[in-house]
Amino acid sequence: MAFVMAAAASAVGLGNLWRFPYLAAKYGGGIFLAVYAILAVTVGFALMTVEIAIGRRTKLSPPDAFRSVSRKWEFVGWLGMAVPTVILAYYNVIGGWIVKYLAFYARRLLCEESAAAAMDAGRAQAVFDGFVSGGSLQPFACGAVFAGCTAILVLLGVKRGIERSSKILMPLLLLLCVAVAAISLSQPGAGAGVKYYLKPDFAAVSWKTVVWALGQVFFSLSLAMGIMITYGSYMHRNESIPKCVLRIEFFDALVAVLAGLIVIPPVFAFLGEEGLKEQGPGLMFVALPVVFSRMTLFGFGIGDLAGLLFFALAFFAAVTSSVSVMETVVSSLRDRTGMRRTPAGLAVTAYMFALLLPVSMCYAKDGPMAGISISEMPLLDFMDFISNNIMMPVCAFCTCIFAGWAVGPGWIYAETRHGGTPLPFARAFAFMVKYAAPVAIIVIFAACILKELEVVSM
Ligand code: PHE
Repeated sequence: MAFVMAAAASAVGLGNLWRFPYLAAKYGGGIFLAVYAILAVTVGFALMTVEIAIGRRTKLSPPDAFRSVSRKWEFVGWLGMAVPTVILAYYNVIGGWIVKYLAFYARRLLCEESAAAAMDAGRAQAVFDGFVSGGSLQPFACGAVFAGCTAILVLLGVKRGIERSSKILMPLLLLLCVAVAAISLSQPGAGAGVKYYLKPDFAAVSWKTVVWALGQVFFSLSLAMGIMITYGSYMHRNESIPKCVLRIEFFDALVAVLAGLIVIPPVFAFLGEEGLKEQGPGLMFVALPVVFSRMTLFGFGIGDLAGLLFFALAFFAAVTSSVSVMETVVSSLRDRTGMRRTPAGLAVTAYMFALLLPVSMCYAKDGPMAGISISEMPLLDFMDFISNNIMMPVCAFCTCIFAGWAVGPGWIYAETRHGGTPLPFARAFAFMVKYAAPVAIIVIFAACILKELEVVSM
């Protein structure tokens, strides 16, 4: 159970909160949900099983796991370590933004004066812009708080830090999800938003529904980031991999669906379809604050409370994901060099802080670190692009080829035999790993590139 909680804690992240609802609203409502569910239990299931089995069979984190099988495939392991290394450099910055909003709502709630200040779109945008591009060191300071929390949990170790925190934070997160969804659904006009979210909309379905759903399945399940290999290496042989995978997927999808109920109905009711045009930071830090400021319950303004609860939820989701990213880098470093947890953890913490400064200031308008960009993308966007759109598809593809063709599905299958339930549908699984998953990954990769080249829109 501890393994399921820790892996689910990694899977439930910002992707569930700021991307899934947006994609569902845009690409077919109920149909998107159905497509997502089908892809999660087929291709997503296969790839997650592969990663966990590689980790558990070798008992090593990515670089050494692949190296222990064959030196020729070692590069896939390095890729599996490189992805979290890049993510680590910018995820703390986004975590810092959440810390800032958490503090912002706590202050509003405590000081009545500021609670009265309503938010319109212009003001919400100005607050966010003032924070990220104002040029003060605030984004760095908030990022440091977030990175510090991540580092403490990783330094405490797998049992005392990662497993224990996820055992506490995941149920709490679910509770918060239900509470905030209840507030959202109690708002006037919410019914129309629920309908908009869940009603199958055939007109909005296209090939993009499948492609973005699949991309979301991979991202949301923390695949192709070396994470599930690392967590798999800590998993006991007496646990059943297929059962655990299904539980992780269920928890992840549950939070994603609830997040849709939190976000879509009030945004739809207060801002209309227009309000759902943005995903990511635009949704979380601009549209939602506007929506929160208009929330009432029995005539009382409850926006600040809703905001506080929502950003607490986002904080838990983000910190447990970032812990899994850092743990993968620390564990890879330890396996490779034989270092102990504390020095390896401190080395990775130093790396995180060194990069936090330039990345957190990359949107600033002035100051010595202001506006650092690579090929016209702010540093943060560039790292996000490289890791999500280039490195992860390559890593996922190579992992499939490794499992399907180098060691063969039987190698994976044998590992799933330990712990009770062996993998059902062995032939279908082999087909998934050898053919369906690699082809699907190539299609996502191509779609991402075409989107970046602005040949297709998203
Ligand atoms: N599954 C995570 C999410 O949905 C993905 C992720 C994990 C991203 C770890 C970054 C770090 O957000």
